[in-house]
Amino acid sequence: MSVKVASDEKSSEEIFRNTISIKANSVSESAVNKRSEEKTAAKKSTVKKAKIKRTKKKAPAQGDDFNDVELTMLERRSVRGFKPKKLPDYLIQRMLETGRYAPCAGNNQSWRFVVVEDQEMIKEMEAHIVKMAGWASRFINPGFPKALTNNFISRTLMKTLTSLVHPTGLGGLAQVAKGDLGVWHGAPAVIFLLVDERGVGDPHLDVGIAGTNISLAAHSYGLGTCWVSFAMFLETSPKFRKALGLGYPYKLATSIAVGYPKGIPDGVVERETHEVTWYDVDGNKKTVY
Ligand SMILES: Cc1cc2nc3c(=O)[nH]c(=O)nc-3n(C[C@H](O)[C@H](O)[C@H](O)COP(=O)(O)O)c2cc1C
Repeated sequence: MSVKVASDEKSSEEIFRNTISIKANSVSESAVNKRSEEKTAAKKSTVKKAKIKRTKKKAPAQGDDFNDVELTMLERRSVRGFKPKKLPDYLIQRMLETGRYAPCAGNNQSWRFVVVEDQEMIKEMEAHIVKMAGWASRFINPGFPKALTNNFISRTLMKTLTSLVHPTGLGGLAQVAKGDLGVWHGAPAVIFLLVDERGVGDPHLDVGIAGTNISLAAHSYGLGTCWVSFAMFLETSPKFRKALGLGYPYKLATSIAVGYPKGIPDGVVERETHEVTWYDVDGNKKTVY
């Protein structure tokens, strides 16, 4: 694709289009236009500004209790047990709106959300994921039944594809393949987070922030969520790729199971601390945790 530039003065839109054409040969002019159309359409269904009263937030004094927002963040736990009760559409829509308002590089909103409540479809998708987790385990996990790999290859993969073939992931993968760890844990709804790869900067990061908003909003309604990245295996199914609208520029980033939790799984847990480097106003370097 070539974009004709009328003068030497390139508008940012033109520069964007040219960059996109270099970045991905396969992108067509219509794909870029489609994106603008999608964004315009999205703007029509906005949070009603008139209904949101502006409030001046107050910083807590030292020693004050955590506020509601902090508590939602601190107490949120991954929920892996849901009641089989449908969520009202308005609640799902409401949490998606919080996702849409997430900060993102260049306000590009390089995401798309797909909601699936169809339990048959969820079950079929889970079966595909379990099958693929089994195959993946056989190829990379020497300890998996009927493994097609050995320790040396597995270690080499772990060293080269550090984030993809990670010991934690390997363990989880084997659990999913053996049915010891569910996929969406019986959730009545799954929200798929797609990343629009035409986005500026690191669109995957933006999608993560949008998902964080969604999951925190859900917990603030008393719902439970679990991020489920094993959903990635759906990229290998032509059927589900079509159903979810995957294919350039949309890639499956992750998914979030959401529903009414069984029991009260939320609550604060022990977490390891991490070193934070801090240069104070006098230029002194300190370390806090
Ligand atoms: C991007 C991402 C992907 C995750 N994928 C899965 C998954 O596939 N299955 C699962 O049971 N949990 C998954 N989790 C949940 C994590 O295991 C969980 O967040 C972590 O153990 C911390 O526990 P907490 O969420 O209760 O604080 C995922 C979390 C994130 C952020």
